[in-house]
Amino acid sequence: MSAQAPKKRLAAPDIRNRKGGDPVVSLTAYHAHTARIVDPYVDFMLVGDSLGMVMHGYESTVPVPLDLMIMHGAAVVRGSSQALVVVDMPFGSYEESPSQAFSNAARVMKETGCGAIKLEGGSRMADTIRFLTERGIPVMAHIGLTPQSVNMMGGFKTQGRQEAEWAAIEEDARAISDAGAFSVVLEGMAELLAARITKDIPIPTIGIGASAECDGQILVLEDMLGLSPRVPKFVKEFAGLGQAIESAVSDYAREVRERTFPAIEHTYTMRDAATKTPKKTGS
Ligand code: KIV
Repeated sequence: MSAQAPKKRLAAPDIRNRKGGDPVVSLTAYHAHTARIVDPYVDFMLVGDSLGMVMHGYESTVPVPLDLMIMHGAAVVRGSSQALVVVDMPFGSYEESPSQAFSNAARVMKETGCGAIKLEGGSRMADTIRFLTERGIPVMAHIGLTPQSVNMMGGFKTQGRQEAEWAAIEEDARAISDAGAFSVVLEGMAELLAARITKDIPIPTIGIGASAECDGQILVLEDMLGLSPRVPKFVKEFAGLGQAIESAVSDYAREVRERTFPAIEHTYTMRDAATKTPKKTGS
Protein backbone atom coordinates (compact mmCIF):
# COMPACT_ATOMS: atom_id res chain seq x y z
CA MET A 1 0.00 0.00 0.00
CA SER A 2 1.39 3.44 -0.84
CA ALA A 3 2.17 5.82 2.05
CA GLN A 4 -0.06 8.56 0.63
CA ALA A 5 -3.43 7.94 -0.93
CA PRO A 6 -3.56 9.53 -4.40
CA LYS A 7 -5.41 12.86 -4.47
CA LYS A 8 -8.97 12.54 -5.75
CA ARG A 9 -9.72 14.40 -8.97
CA LEU A 10 -11.69 17.63 -8.41
CA ALA A 11 -15.27 17.69 -9.64
CA ALA A 12 -17.65 20.47 -10.68
CA PRO A 13 -19.18 20.85 -7.17
CA ASP A 14 -15.67 21.43 -5.72
CA ILE A 15 -15.26 24.40 -8.06
CA ARG A 16 -18.81 25.61 -7.31
CA ASN A 17 -18.02 25.54 -3.57
CA ARG A 18 -15.02 27.81 -4.00
CA LYS A 19 -17.23 30.92 -4.27
CA GLY A 20 -15.88 33.46 -1.81
CA GLY A 21 -12.84 31.28 -0.97
CA ASP A 22 -9.34 30.98 -2.42
CA PRO A 23 -9.04 32.07 -6.06
CA VAL A 24 -9.77 29.32 -8.59
CA VAL A 25 -6.68 28.69 -10.76
CA SER A 26 -7.04 27.36 -14.27
CA LEU A 27 -5.30 27.13 -17.64
CA THR A 28 -6.12 25.63 -20.97
CA ALA A 29 -4.50 22.33 -21.95
CA TYR A 30 -4.74 20.55 -25.28
CA HIS A 31 -2.32 17.63 -24.96
CA ALA A 32 -1.42 14.84 -22.53
CA HIS A 33 2.13 16.09 -21.97
CA THR A 34 1.22 19.68 -21.09
CA ALA A 35 -1.72 18.42 -19.02
CA ARG A 36 0.74 16.36 -16.95
CA ILE A 37 2.82 19.47 -16.20
CA VAL A 38 -0.13 21.77 -15.47
CA ASP A 39 -2.24 19.28 -13.46
CA PRO A 40 -0.73 19.70 -9.95
CA TYR A 41 -0.97 23.51 -10.04
CA VAL A 42 -4.52 24.17 -11.19
CA ASP A 43 -8.06 23.49 -10.02
CA PHE A 44 -9.36 22.85 -13.51
CA MET A 45 -7.99 22.56 -17.03
CA LEU A 46 -10.04 23.72 -19.96
CA VAL A 47 -9.75 21.97 -23.29
CA GLY A 48 -10.77 25.18 -24.99
CA ASP A 49 -11.91 25.44 -28.59
CA SER A 50 -9.16 28.08 -28.82
CA LEU A 51 -7.11 25.01 -29.81
CA GLY A 52 -8.49 25.53 -33.31
CA MET A 53 -6.64 28.85 -33.55
CA VAL A 54 -3.64 28.05 -31.34
CA MET A 55 -2.81 24.59 -32.70
CA HIS A 56 -4.61 24.12 -35.97
CA GLY A 57 -4.20 27.53 -37.61
CA TYR A 58 -7.90 28.49 -37.95
CA GLU A 59 -8.73 32.24 -38.03
CA SER A 60 -11.45 31.78 -35.40
CA THR A 61 -12.98 29.03 -33.26
CA VAL A 62 -16.01 28.71 -35.58
CA PRO A 63 -14.68 25.87 -37.80
CA VAL A 64 -13.60 23.60 -34.89
CA PRO A 65 -15.25 20.14 -35.21
CA LEU A 66 -16.66 18.15 -32.27
CA ASP A 67 -14.41 15.16 -33.04
CA LEU A 68 -11.31 17.35 -32.64
CA MET A 69 -12.50 18.50 -29.18
CA ILE A 70 -13.08 14.87 -28.22
CA MET A 71 -9.62 13.80 -29.39
CA HIS A 72 -7.86 16.56 -27.43
CA GLY A 73 -10.20 16.18 -24.42
CA ALA A 74 -9.38 12.47 -24.11
CA ALA A 75 -5.63 13.24 -24.30
CA VAL A 76 -5.87 15.82 -21.48
CA VAL A 77 -7.85 13.42 -19.29
CA ARG A 78 -5.21 10.70 -19.91
CA GLY A 79 -2.43 13.12 -19.00
CA SER A 80 -3.93 14.33 -15.72
CA SER A 81 -5.21 12.91 -12.46
CA GLN A 82 -6.10 15.75 -10.06
CA ALA A 83 -7.62 18.75 -11.82
CA LEU A 84 -11.17 18.84 -13.13
CA VAL A 85 -11.10 18.65 -16.95
CA VAL A 86 -13.68 20.82 -18.72
CA VAL A 87 -14.17 20.41 -22.48
CA ASP A 88 -15.55 23.18 -24.71
CA MET A 89 -18.57 22.43 -26.88
CA PRO A 90 -17.64 23.81 -30.32
CA PHE A 91 -19.82 26.11 -32.44
CA GLY A 92 -22.78 24.29 -33.98
CA SER A 93 -22.76 21.37 -31.53
CA TYR A 94 -25.27 22.71 -28.94
CA GLU A 95 -27.17 25.83 -30.05
CA GLU A 96 -29.94 24.19 -32.10
CA SER A 97 -31.89 22.64 -29.22
CA PRO A 98 -31.43 21.29 -25.69
CA SER A 99 -31.64 17.74 -27.05
CA GLN A 100 -28.91 18.39 -29.64
CA ALA A 101 -26.78 19.84 -26.82
CA PHE A 102 -27.47 16.79 -24.63
CA SER A 103 -26.52 14.18 -27.26
CA ASN A 104 -23.28 15.95 -28.14
CA ALA A 105 -22.35 16.79 -24.53
CA ALA A 106 -23.04 13.18 -23.46
CA ARG A 107 -20.72 12.02 -26.28
CA VAL A 108 -18.02 14.39 -25.04
CA MET A 109 -18.36 13.13 -21.46
CA LYS A 110 -18.42 9.42 -22.43
CA GLU A 111 -15.60 9.55 -24.98
CA THR A 112 -13.20 11.85 -23.09
CA GLY A 113 -13.91 11.03 -19.44
CA CYS A 114 -14.01 14.78 -18.65
CA GLY A 115 -15.96 16.08 -15.63
CA ALA A 116 -17.83 18.99 -17.24
CA ILE A 117 -18.46 20.84 -20.47
CA LYS A 118 -18.41 24.56 -21.27
CA LEU A 119 -20.67 26.40 -23.67
CA GLU A 120 -20.95 30.03 -24.75
CA GLY A 121 -23.98 32.27 -24.31
CA GLY A 122 -26.09 33.87 -21.57
CA SER A 123 -29.89 34.12 -21.32
CA ARG A 124 -30.39 32.46 -24.72
CA MET A 125 -28.64 29.30 -23.44
CA ALA A 126 -30.41 29.16 -20.05
CA ASP A 127 -32.98 26.50 -21.09
CA THR A 128 -30.19 24.34 -22.52
CA ILE A 129 -28.07 24.69 -19.37
CA ARG A 130 -31.08 23.65 -17.25
CA PHE A 131 -31.77 20.67 -19.56
CA LEU A 132 -28.15 19.47 -19.33
CA THR A 133 -27.65 19.96 -15.60
CA GLU A 134 -30.96 18.22 -14.78
CA ARG A 135 -29.65 15.23 -16.78
CA GLY A 136 -26.24 14.90 -15.11
CA ILE A 137 -24.01 17.12 -17.24
CA PRO A 138 -22.17 19.84 -15.27
CA VAL A 139 -22.04 23.06 -17.30
CA MET A 140 -19.59 25.94 -17.14
CA ALA A 141 -21.03 28.97 -18.92
CA HIS A 142 -19.11 31.66 -20.83
CA ILE A 143 -20.35 35.25 -21.26
CA GLY A 144 -18.99 38.67 -22.21
CA LEU A 145 -16.72 38.30 -25.21
CA THR A 146 -17.83 35.00 -26.70
CA PRO A 147 -15.40 34.11 -29.54
CA GLN A 148 -17.87 31.77 -31.31
CA SER A 149 -20.02 34.87 -32.00
CA VAL A 150 -17.14 36.69 -33.72
CA ASN A 151 -19.16 37.01 -36.93
CA MET A 152 -22.06 38.70 -35.07
CA MET A 153 -19.79 40.95 -32.99
CA GLY A 154 -17.65 41.95 -36.00
CA GLY A 155 -14.41 41.08 -34.19
CA PHE A 156 -13.11 40.18 -30.74
CA LYS A 157 -14.46 43.17 -28.79
CA THR A 158 -14.20 43.93 -25.06
CA GLN A 159 -17.65 43.99 -23.46
CA GLY A 160 -19.18 46.38 -20.92
CA ARG A 161 -17.01 49.45 -21.49
CA GLN A 162 -20.21 51.49 -21.84
CA GLU A 163 -22.59 51.41 -18.88
CA ALA A 164 -25.49 51.05 -21.32
CA GLU A 165 -24.28 47.50 -22.10
CA TRP A 166 -24.28 46.34 -18.48
CA ALA A 167 -27.94 45.39 -17.90
CA ALA A 168 -28.02 42.75 -20.66
CA ILE A 169 -24.74 41.16 -19.56
CA GLU A 170 -25.80 41.14 -15.89
CA GLU A 171 -29.06 39.51 -16.95
CA ASP A 172 -27.03 36.86 -18.83
CA ALA A 173 -25.03 36.12 -15.67
CA ARG A 174 -28.15 35.72 -13.53
CA ALA A 175 -29.90 33.56 -16.12
CA ILE A 176 -27.07 31.03 -16.46
CA SER A 177 -26.55 30.90 -12.71
CA ASP A 178 -30.29 30.34 -12.07
CA ALA A 179 -30.26 27.63 -14.75
CA GLY A 180 -27.69 25.60 -12.79
CA ALA A 181 -24.26 26.40 -14.28
CA PHE A 182 -21.57 25.59 -11.68
CA SER A 183 -19.27 28.41 -12.79
CA VAL A 184 -18.97 31.04 -15.52
CA VAL A 185 -16.11 32.38 -17.61
CA LEU A 186 -16.18 36.17 -17.97
CA GLU A 187 -14.10 37.02 -21.03
CA GLY A 188 -12.92 40.45 -22.25
CA MET A 189 -14.97 42.50 -19.82
CA ALA A 190 -14.54 45.88 -18.14
CA GLU A 191 -13.40 45.56 -14.52
CA LEU A 192 -16.38 47.35 -12.95
CA LEU A 193 -18.88 45.09 -14.67
CA ALA A 194 -16.92 41.93 -13.77
CA ALA A 195 -16.88 43.10 -10.14
CA ARG A 196 -20.66 43.69 -10.11
CA ILE A 197 -21.39 40.26 -11.62
CA THR A 198 -18.97 38.52 -9.23
CA LYS A 199 -20.77 40.11 -6.26
CA ASP A 200 -24.21 39.41 -7.67
CA ILE A 201 -24.18 35.69 -8.55
CA PRO A 202 -23.59 32.71 -6.23
CA ILE A 203 -21.27 30.78 -8.58
CA PRO A 204 -17.55 31.45 -9.17
CA THR A 205 -16.65 33.80 -11.99
CA ILE A 206 -13.47 32.85 -13.88
CA GLY A 207 -11.88 35.84 -15.56
CA ILE A 208 -9.89 36.07 -18.76
CA GLY A 209 -9.31 39.73 -19.51
CA ALA A 210 -11.91 40.54 -16.85
CA SER A 211 -9.67 41.81 -14.00
CA ALA A 212 -8.63 40.53 -10.57
CA GLU A 213 -12.21 41.12 -9.33
CA CYS A 214 -13.23 37.64 -10.51
CA ASP A 215 -13.29 34.56 -8.26
CA GLY A 216 -10.61 32.89 -10.38
CA GLN A 217 -8.51 33.27 -13.50
CA ILE A 218 -7.82 31.37 -16.69
CA LEU A 219 -5.31 31.96 -19.50
CA VAL A 220 -4.49 30.11 -22.67
CA LEU A 221 -1.35 28.12 -21.76
CA GLU A 222 0.49 28.89 -25.02
CA ASP A 223 -0.14 32.64 -24.51
CA MET A 224 1.27 32.75 -20.97
CA LEU A 225 4.27 30.63 -21.99
CA GLY A 226 5.26 33.12 -24.71
CA LEU A 227 4.49 30.72 -27.57
CA SER A 228 1.89 32.85 -29.35
CA PRO A 229 2.99 35.36 -31.99
CA ARG A 230 0.48 38.02 -30.78
CA VAL A 231 -1.26 38.22 -27.41
CA PRO A 232 -4.04 40.48 -26.11
CA LYS A 233 -3.33 43.15 -23.45
CA PHE A 234 -4.65 40.99 -20.61
CA VAL A 235 -2.04 38.25 -21.11
CA LYS A 236 1.10 38.22 -18.98
CA GLU A 237 3.87 36.14 -20.54
CA PHE A 238 5.32 34.14 -17.63
CA ALA A 239 7.98 32.56 -19.90
CA GLY A 240 9.59 33.06 -23.31
CA LEU A 241 9.25 29.55 -24.72
CA GLY A 242 8.87 30.73 -28.32
CA GLN A 243 12.39 32.19 -28.24
CA ALA A 244 13.77 29.20 -26.31
CA ILE A 245 12.38 26.79 -28.94
CA GLU A 246 13.73 28.87 -31.81
CA SER A 247 17.20 29.00 -30.29
CA ALA A 248 17.21 25.22 -29.64
CA VAL A 249 16.05 24.46 -33.21
CA SER A 250 18.66 26.79 -34.70
CA ASP A 251 21.46 25.16 -32.59
CA TYR A 252 20.28 21.71 -33.71
CA ALA A 253 20.24 22.70 -37.39
CA ARG A 254 23.74 24.19 -37.15
CA GLU A 255 25.18 21.12 -35.36
CA VAL A 256 23.68 18.71 -37.90
CA ARG A 257 25.15 20.77 -40.75
CA GLU A 258 28.55 20.94 -39.00
CA ARG A 259 28.35 17.16 -38.21
CA THR A 260 28.95 17.87 -34.49
CA PHE A 261 25.61 16.25 -33.62
CA PRO A 262 25.18 13.33 -32.98
CA ALA A 263 28.37 13.08 -30.88
CA ILE A 264 29.88 9.87 -29.47
CA GLU A 265 27.65 10.01 -26.35
CA HIS A 266 24.57 9.89 -28.58
CA THR A 267 25.87 6.94 -30.61
CA TYR A 268 25.41 3.16 -30.16
CA THR A 269 28.72 1.27 -30.43
CA MET A 270 29.04 -2.52 -31.07
CA ARG A 271 28.94 -4.82 -28.01
CA ASP A 272 31.49 -7.65 -27.57
CA ALA A 273 29.31 -10.78 -27.70
CA ALA A 274 31.24 -12.67 -24.97
CA THR A 275 31.86 -9.96 -22.36
CA LYS A 276 28.90 -7.74 -23.21
CA THR A 277 31.27 -4.75 -22.96
CA PRO A 278 31.48 -2.13 -25.69
CA LYS A 279 33.96 -3.19 -28.43
CA LYS A 280 36.91 -0.88 -29.04
CA THR A 281 36.78 0.57 -32.51
CA GLY A 282 39.79 0.18 -34.86
CA SER A 283 41.21 3.67 -34.97
O1 KIV B 1 -11.38 28.32 -25.77
C1 KIV B 1 -10.81 28.81 -24.79
O2 KIV B 1 -9.60 28.70 -24.60
C2 KIV B 1 -11.64 29.56 -23.85
C3 KIV B 1 -10.92 30.39 -22.84
C4 KIV B 1 -10.48 31.63 -23.52
C5 KIV B 1 -11.76 30.67 -21.66
O3 KIV B 1 -12.82 29.52 -23.92
